[in-house]
Amino acid sequence: LSIPDLIAKKRDGLELNPEEIQQFIGGIKTRDVQDCHAGAMLMAMFLKGMTEGEICSLTTSMRDSGERLKWPQFRGLVVDKHSTGGIGDKISIPLAPALAACQLKVPMMSGRGLGITGGTLDKLESIPGYRTQLTDEQIVKLISTVGCGIFSQSPKLNPADRYLYSIRDVTATVSSNALIISSILSKKAVEDLDALILDVKYGISAVMKTPELAENLAHSLYKVSEMLGIRTYCYITEMNNPIGYCIGNAIEIQESIDLMKYKSGHSNDLEELVCEQGGRLLLLTDKVKTIEQGREMIRETFKNGSALQKFHDMIIGQGVSETIAKQLISDDESIIGSILKLGDVHYQGISSDTGFIQSIDSFKLGTIVQRLGGGRLKSTDKLDYSVGIRLLKHVGDPIQQNEPWAILYADTDATQRYPKVLDDLTTSLIVSSSSVEPLQRIYKVIG
Ligand code: URA
Repeated sequence: LSIPDLIAKKRDGLELNPEEIQQFIGGIKTRDVQDCHAGAMLMAMFLKGMTEGEICSLTTSMRDSGERLKWPQFRGLVVDKHSTGGIGDKISIPLAPALAACQLKVPMMSGRGLGITGGTLDKLESIPGYRTQLTDEQIVKLISTVGCGIFSQSPKLNPADRYLYSIRDVTATVSSNALIISSILSKKAVEDLDALILDVKYGISAVMKTPELAENLAHSLYKVSEMLGIRTYCYITEMNNPIGYCIGNAIEIQESIDLMKYKSGHSNDLEELVCEQGGRLLLLTDKVKTIEQGREMIRETFKNGSALQKFHDMIIGQGVSETIAKQLISDDESIIGSILKLGDVHYQGISSDTGFIQSIDSFKLGTIVQRLGGGRLKSTDKLDYSVGIRLLKHVGDPIQQNEPWAILYADTDATQRYPKVLDDLTTSLIVSSSSVEPLQRIYKVIG
């Protein structure tokens, strides 16, 4: 069949066989598949859905679109974590160095922002000099010496996901179970892992809006991942409220560094998620006997500075100068602020009520950051890393009328770029007159 014939077959709701899926994915490399073909096929896959067999074929074809990493020398120690995407979701950034500080190996092939959800790679690129695209040799060196690296797909490593990911981001084809599963697991299958944590988010700013939809996706992810031979554990977690206090690119690196320094005032919410997921990987690789021991071991890497040191070594291994890396782990806030710059204009979110914070709308805040240049609307958009939101309070905290609860760092043209910016900021906060329970992030686990 020709490429248009394959698209027509899927459009008409028929099942593509493994050879046909392989032909389509292979066509990306040979350029027989053009952007218009890819957009149409993704939409057909999105609308008609994919059988389990099709999803497995798509995942393995994408995995095999490039080379695969191999770690015979580190067998039993190679782990990773991947999230379906959220607002303020910077878990991977402190987690990878923390795991490396516990002697695990973390070859983390990560993603860019999709829709309003931020991307780990975009955040890391706000560090001057940070290179996300590494050669196989550079990855092997980084994992062998430092123990962790956070990098992108490349022309050699899963080029099919690299290509399809950018097309999905701008063709309204992100929220398809089949496309999410193949995208995530093809990256993880390239990494030659022993254990994997998948964090499947539900809520207003997540791809899956309800816990039931997230659970359904988590079950499929779990099944395909185990079928690929990866010991997998899935968390289904809440994504109505932002994770931690910061949303944006440079600002989330600042917050990740604060956790790795175990600075007072760092986000407990973020710390608990990182310790839980890291602790679980320590348990899955038999580094500890209980999840409690695992959580404490991760926490200890923040308290004793070993995760911060690994972060320092990792970013140098990925192109950052020794001077900048040293400055970022120093205690000099003004130097850190001059490297990870935030926008000059500060808008405040002010509460109109007295009471307790019931919720903070992560969808609206994520949209503000995206529209002001922190995320993409076209695949060629260049990001403005300096856009960010800092929450001064979180869910459950008491608040007074007229008290500020958030600061938006933006450029001078913010209200022209996104006229709803101030309205969205103000209406993101919901205050209750009675006390509010702390956030329960973890809804369910599968593993
Ligand atoms: N992360 C990915 O890598 N792919 C998706 O489709 C969603 C989240």
